[in-house]
Amino acid sequence: MSRKNQNQDITRRGFIKTGGAVVAGLAATRLAPTETLAAEGGAKTVTVSSQKIAALTRWPRYGAAEKNRLHELIDSNKFYEELPLFEKEWQDYTKAPFVKCHMNGSSALTSMYFALDVPAGSEVMVPTYTFFSACLAMRFSNLVPIFIDIDPKTACFDLEDAKRKLTPRTKAVEAMHSWGLPCEMDHICDWANEKGLVPLEDAAHAHGASMKGKKMGTWSQMGIYSFQTSKVMPSVEGGMGMYQTREYYERAFAFGHYEAPAKFAKDSPVRAYEGTGFGQKYRMHPLAAAVARMQLKGLDALNALVEKNVRALNDRLTQLPGLTEPRCRPDQKRAYYHANMLFVDFKKLGFSRDALVKALKAEGVGASFWDYPEQHKLKIYSEAKWWHHPPKIPEKMPGCAYVNANHIFVPLFYGEASELIDQYVKAFEKVWAQRDRLAKA
Ligand SMILES: Cc1ncc(COP(=O)(O)O)c(C=O)c1O
Repeated sequence: MSRKNQNQDITRRGFIKTGGAVVAGLAATRLAPTETLAAEGGAKTVTVSSQKIAALTRWPRYGAAEKNRLHELIDSNKFYEELPLFEKEWQDYTKAPFVKCHMNGSSALTSMYFALDVPAGSEVMVPTYTFFSACLAMRFSNLVPIFIDIDPKTACFDLEDAKRKLTPRTKAVEAMHSWGLPCEMDHICDWANEKGLVPLEDAAHAHGASMKGKKMGTWSQMGIYSFQTSKVMPSVEGGMGMYQTREYYERAFAFGHYEAPAKFAKDSPVRAYEGTGFGQKYRMHPLAAAVARMQLKGLDALNALVEKNVRALNDRLTQLPGLTEPRCRPDQKRAYYHANMLFVDFKKLGFSRDALVKALKAEGVGASFWDYPEQHKLKIYSEAKWWHHPPKIPEKMPGCAYVNANHIFVPLFYGEASELIDQYVKAFEKVWAQRDRLAKA
């Protein structure tokens, strides 16, 4: 490191050290904006090679284990044996009383709403900040969504909003663990039980996440996972349903598996539907199950590595004024899906998000943002013809609006990344030191 850079580094470390005080006084202390931003012709802060960064951020991560298992399976010709093997391993991992793999997360959702077995026109609470199928899958069981806001501190289900929106038709409440952060399922389940609602979980983002030692997807009566390519445990495509009771399991299983009823006890109410099930064919592809089995073996180790890298970065970044991360309770163990989401209070800081992302990108930081579609704003919910009765379209969703307007994403690193993390911190500090100027840009 050159003497000039060393001096800059000392200044930066001094800034980070006093970060707590800065946060308290927000505008009180400023790092002298001595360095020219890369966007304005200065030197780029991130110098780790693009090949190394590509290797650290590559997703999905398949290797010899997946290739070998696929070859073994093709050679063996025993394709369908892979499905119960995967289910057994997933059940051992999550400790769910019953599990069934489906062809994707969306078909697991459709099966779950069918299994719910509540009268047509019943309403199910869902976060509006979610994937379309979490809401639309219920249409096939004649259920209607009630759109719930998210907590701006977590981007997860806002129980207080749910309490305000309870109707006499509400029968179930479904929470989604956004970006791998568990919803507060203890509070949600307590409230649901008190009101006689069935708690449900969409854990499509949260493989390996748990609360009080209990895996997400097992807190509620039924939960689902997706193993689609982008997910924390990808099998290219695939899904899983988790069930607390035999009744839910059998109905959800039989919905998309015509061969299922024959497996059930003679007195099962579903047994008589042998040969048809309830109209869909949702079998998971066995080659995907083979990939999922290998991914599951490495899941905890990869999650731990990602977490270590996130902590090394976020513990320093969150000392910058106005920059926070989603709140995670000490008894929650979160996973990280897609990216490392950071909250930046742009209004308070006077930054524009475009200006910040442009400046960070020029420094070599893989900064981005992506506003999650708010389901209630999409066309299909406003047209009565698709629904048993029209879903109520809320006028305002302040939690969603805040999160969508005040986040940025930085990549997750799936390998030893200390040098890159250090450079990321320096890039943020450099940009933050110029924030008054950026505010005017
Ligand atoms: C929150 C959520 N739920 C459900 C799903 C559906 O999963 P799949 O794509 O496997 O159908 C997704 C997929 O992106 C998701 O993000």
